[in-house]
Amino acid sequence: MKIKYQDLIEQTFEFPQEEFEVHDNELYFNKIPLMDIIKQYGTPVKLTYLPKISSQIQKAKRLFNVAMAKVDYQADYKYCYCTKSSHFSFVLEEALKNKINLETSSAFDINIIDELYNSGIIGKDIFILSNGFKRTQYLENIVRLINDGFINTIPILDNMDELQYYTDNVSKNFNVGIRIASEEEPMFSFYTSRLGIRYNDIVPFYHEMIETNPKIGLKMLHFFINTGIKDTAYYWNELNKSLNVYVELKKVCPELDSFNIGGGFPIKRSLGFEYDYEYMAEEIVAQIKSVCDQHGVPEPDIFTEFGSFTVGESGATLYSVLDQKQQNDRELWNMIDSSFMTTLPDSWAINQRFILLPVNRWDAEYQRVCLGGLTCDSQDYYNDEAHTNAVFLPKFDKNDPLYLGFFHTGAYQESLGGYGGIQHCLIPAPKHIIIDLDENGDFSPKLFAKEQSYKSMLKTLGF
Ligand SMILES: Cc1ncc(COP(=O)(O)O)c(C=O)c1O
Repeated sequence: MKIKYQDLIEQTFEFPQEEFEVHDNELYFNKIPLMDIIKQYGTPVKLTYLPKISSQIQKAKRLFNVAMAKVDYQADYKYCYCTKSSHFSFVLEEALKNKINLETSSAFDINIIDELYNSGIIGKDIFILSNGFKRTQYLENIVRLINDGFINTIPILDNMDELQYYTDNVSKNFNVGIRIASEEEPMFSFYTSRLGIRYNDIVPFYHEMIETNPKIGLKMLHFFINTGIKDTAYYWNELNKSLNVYVELKKVCPELDSFNIGGGFPIKRSLGFEYDYEYMAEEIVAQIKSVCDQHGVPEPDIFTEFGSFTVGESGATLYSVLDQKQQNDRELWNMIDSSFMTTLPDSWAINQRFILLPVNRWDAEYQRVCLGGLTCDSQDYYNDEAHTNAVFLPKFDKNDPLYLGFFHTGAYQESLGGYGGIQHCLIPAPKHIIIDLDENGDFSPKLFAKEQSYKSMLKTLGF
């Protein structure tokens, strides 16, 4: 009878996969023997596999450039990384090796831009797209960038009043973008996004406030669908509505030449993940071209701001199972050595699923378990996966420790979990390892941060 954990996986999915392989009952992630990492650094531990960031960027560039070539598209594709997905210096440094641009969302992001410029990683010609509803500090920082000669800084207007600050404070001609407030999916709890300017207000606003001011150029229209780029009637409908605004504006606003479709390329959250990236990129490019052709306007440069797609698949979070508790006839709790609420907050807050696999003991029999975190919060658990309403893992054995990995956890989890700050029940932030490949193609792990200390937490608490 086939009852080993490895049998379960091989019967359920195509396995091994591009980034997951098993040798001698131990898991390799992008060819990294994870047990070696655990032996060297212990658990809990977060890791970032840097080469994945570059390969994702190159993949998107290839997809859009091929899609453009297929329809003889007469403008360019521009990749922006949306910094809010992971602000870590090593992420930005890796991403920026690939000639990309950046999207910012708050005042301190501009201080990151300063750091990158001062260390020679970016030049003043990089596109900086500044989104968000902006407080004064953010507005001041954006204006400083433009006045300092970052010629491609484009504030994306989130509301009509925002423009006045730039008009009053930018000392030269400058460009802006407008974010379109998209309609939310039909089942959402409200109809229209709070972000951006309503469809019907955009053209009148342009005539009244931008066309009449020779200092301002409207360069970009931006739209972003919160639920991501999906092959649904809803997505194509929103894309089309935004394109119609684009062509209407383009007819009266010659300097408009960029259409920004925001973020939302998905990542693999289950071993059964299927998504036709090629088809989606081709369809988006073809639709943009087709609407422009129908209206006799030139195609725009297409900007994307992929966050999860850039950095999500580079990350993994490894834990040990500390013990197993049996709380009734059926429920077995594997207690992990950290907290889901603080290290993978999306799993708790929006029920986000990640790929979950054991790191060792793939030859053991499997059993159904619930996973429990260390906080006293009853919500600190993980007990289903994207493909099934249960978690199966190798049988717990007190004498043979079991290690688990959650994979593709590289986006948003640190910023949402308040990495390095106060954590629920004061469970410390785990250590963080960065893994790169050296010139021979061998992997070299480096400790980025130790496990958070009680001293740092108590200091924040005022002790
Ligand atoms: C304006 C904007 N652009 C890009 C993104 C990135 O989205 P994703 O991580 O889904 O690619 C976001 C995410 O919230 C966003 O608000």
